[in-house]
Amino acid sequence: MRINKERLKNSMLEIGNIGKDPTGGITRLAFSPEYNIAARRLSQMMEAAGLEVKQDRLGSVFGRRYGEDDTLPVIMFGSHLDTVKNGGFFDGLLGIMAGLEIINTLNDLGRTTKYPLELVAFNAEEGSEMGGTFASRVMAGLISPDDQYLQEHLPEYNLRPEDLAAARRDLNEIKAFIEVHIEQGTVLESEQIPIGIVNGIAGITRYKVIITGEANHSGTTPMRLRKDALITAAKLILKIEDIAVELGEPFVATIGTLEIKPGAVNVIPGEVELIIELRDLDQHKIETAGEKITSYINQLSKDIQIEKIVNKTPVKTDPGMANIIETACKKLEIPGRKILSGAGHDAKEIARKVPTGMIFVPSIAGKSHCPEEKTSWEDIYLGTEVLLETILSI
Ligand code: GLV
Ligand code: MN
Ligand code: MN
Repeated sequence: MRINKERLKNSMLEIGNIGKDPTGGITRLAFSPEYNIAARRLSQMMEAAGLEVKQDRLGSVFGRRYGEDDTLPVIMFGSHLDTVKNGGFFDGLLGIMAGLEIINTLNDLGRTTKYPLELVAFNAEEGSEMGGTFASRVMAGLISPDDQYLQEHLPEYNLRPEDLAAARRDLNEIKAFIEVHIEQGTVLESEQIPIGIVNGIAGITRYKVIITGEANHSGTTPMRLRKDALITAAKLILKIEDIAVELGEPFVATIGTLEIKPGAVNVIPGEVELIIELRDLDQHKIETAGEKITSYINQLSKDIQIEKIVNKTPVKTDPGMANIIETACKKLEIPGRKILSGAGHDAKEIARKVPTGMIFVPSIAGKSHCPEEKTSWEDIYLGTEVLLETILSI
């Protein structure tokens, strides 16, 4: 192997442990102090590797390495630096540190590539008010700075529409994008194949639902006179599960946030706000689910508002890039197979505009977005070596 395993492991431990919480999980939320500490330390490490480093106004870090012909577009690679609340160590981090390691390896080898290279650590990939894959969508021009919903939430992150405009890139400057990531599923582990070559990434649609009831005294209001918003929410949630099961795999539906107002033990819930997330590789199934949910809501109660807040359609990655990754695996004699991704990624958004490839490595027991998330170091080294070979092939 050409990469330096020890250096890769140490750099992952250095950045990846920033935001470690008492349960052993990692909480490095977008725009948080932990995120900023990690971005600063990463910038120093990128500078030490000889990169020309810039942080954009959204907090993403970019580092450029000169190419033999520096007028050519860059080959960009990387992933996201933020995590979910109480998430895992490897999600996002791997793609960034694998990228830094291949820069250091090229330095060791004294090699300059034909195309300039650019390593990126994106901010706000994980789902938030900004809709997830936020910085990569802004970079790729996939978010309009006048988006109404976003406009309302920008101030929460100290952002202005001008900051979004400034973070947008001319995509003619990017020849290709490659992201190394953990699989977050069980396919590779169950087949004992160390590399996944992603050929499709699921779409994500989210709805915000507000159910209005009537807050009242829990001891004095008889059951027959109540308008309990949480009981209505419960009916809706169970119906969504039925709809999801009926649509069949790989369709999934999740209600991951639920806010009860006023939220007291002795008050009947007067309002419930929740977010429904729907995912599939087939946009028709997502839309069918959305229609079924809306029609159930219409018959359930007049006091429910539903608003679509995220609509990111599925994508197929570039077949040419998948071939390059596959050939790299063959050359290195590392087994690889084509694979689909149920998780969202920055690569999914960039793939809409730039030839994009993704390299997956196995997740132990398919755990992710939780402290138990794990990948063997050996698989991490293999994935990084495949990234190096892919970039050299391009
Ligand atoms: C990101 O991890 C997502 O799939 O939401
Ligand atoms: Mn994630
Ligand atoms: Mn991720």
